[in-house]
Amino acid sequence: MSDIRILAIESSCDETAAAVVEGGRKVLSNVIYSQIDLHTLYGGVVPEIASRKHIEKINPVIEKALSEAGCTLSDIDAIAVTYGPGLVGPLLVGVAEAKAIAFATGLPLIGVHHIKGHICANYIEHEDLKPPFISLVVSGGHTHLVRVVDYCTYEVIGRTRDDAAGEAFDKVARAIGLGYPGGPKIDEAAKKGNAEAIVFPKAKVGDSAYDFSFSGIKSAVLNYLNHAEMKGETVDRCDLAASFQKAVVDVLTEHAVMAIRQFGLKEIALAGGVASNSALRASMTEACDKEGVRFYCPSPIYCTDNAAMIGVAAYHEYRNGNFADFTLNALPSVPIA
Ligand code: KG4
Ligand code: ZN
Repeated sequence: MSDIRILAIESSCDETAAAVVEGGRKVLSNVIYSQIDLHTLYGGVVPEIASRKHIEKINPVIEKALSEAGCTLSDIDAIAVTYGPGLVGPLLVGVAEAKAIAFATGLPLIGVHHIKGHICANYIEHEDLKPPFISLVVSGGHTHLVRVVDYCTYEVIGRTRDDAAGEAFDKVARAIGLGYPGGPKIDEAAKKGNAEAIVFPKAKVGDSAYDFSFSGIKSAVLNYLNHAEMKGETVDRCDLAASFQKAVVDVLTEHAVMAIRQFGLKEIALAGGVASNSALRASMTEACDKEGVRFYCPSPIYCTDNAAMIGVAAYHEYRNGNFADFTLNALPSVPIA
């Protein structure tokens, strides 16, 4: 099993990605074609444009992943692909491609849940991380607090009721004129600002301890900007970015710590694009130190969308015998459990 080689494909949003992963951990290649520049023109991802770009890029990206790994398809043991959640058009491109390769080669096909992929990114660089543990998945499309029971069993204990954390970063960045994608830009601006300058409401939901709500905080930022404009006051964008970021990071950290205490687990793994956020990493590191809990986080390249993480998740599905057939379809809002 340790030499099983998987060719993995990821196209759920605006990255066309392919990777070859050996033994569920060793990344032989990890090719990512990012469409960010294309979508920046529109201030966010345009699904139809993303689908068309995926069609154009998917074959060259796969060829590059195979050649960088020093492989041909005859060295590969299975084809894995993200089948959901995500944008339906972009997902369909990856799923159709994976099915075509599996059909032509006779190789087994594995459908991978995108959020499981984000969590599995942690196994690439952290050999000591083993289930059970808590994972906080924060990305542009998802915010989930998950109990990872074993390599293929996941239980959602909290989720966002409205916007995902990354979506809130992107919307606030747009409102203060920082551009797209907003997360990294807010992260940078916040370093020059005072996080205590403005108090924004905590992104909590009254009736569920673990769920999140980020649309309220986003609206509070927009209201703050409108009021300032009406009064002719100038807003310090760095203070605003830092204060907004603190409100989001505080609530994410609090919920993660609460989950660790309730489930008596000693390890927590961050995942998803927002896991690159420097304030979130610092806050989680400090909280985990205090709780005596080990904190894991992937390198930034494995936080945002990539196919290596899909290859890792697929390895565990392979070991469990969880193969797909040619009825595999793109499922834009499939739950994790
Ligand atoms: O995981 P990902 O690549 O795509 C989804 O599955 O959604 O996450 C992209 C999200 C975007 O919203 C982006 O603004 C956010 O991750 N992001 C960040 C940072 N880097 C990326 N958010 C906050 N701070 C960052 N440094
Ligand atoms: Zn993602």
